[in-house]
Amino acid sequence: MADFQTIARVSEIAPGERIVAEFGRDWVVIFNVGGEFYAVEDMCSHEEYPLADGVLDEYSLECPKHGALFDVRTGAHLCPPAVSPIKTYDLRVEGDEIQIARKKK
Ligand code: FES
Repeated sequence: MADFQTIARVSEIAPGERIVAEFGRDWVVIFNVGGEFYAVEDMCSHEEYPLADGVLDEYSLECPKHGALFDVRTGAHLCPPAVSPIKTYDLRVEGDEIQIARKKK
């Protein structure tokens, strides 16, 4: 069973908003997209640049540095210059708590 930890509260992140939180040694961006929450590492896979300030268009997150796009639901890279996905986390909501866990390999 994955080891879920509370990382934020539902009431802290309105729809369309995001926060950055520390999770172990990772910085994680939590997005509220229309009431659904998604967690991705705050690190582009292209040149290790933070993604937290990137523009989000539906589920597509644009890296502020060179414009690579990633799907926040899966971490998949959608266009160059990124050639690999970003890390995502398992996420669940328990009451007002947003909890995440590392994905099993
Ligand atoms: S650092 Fe993100 S696209 Fe280059």
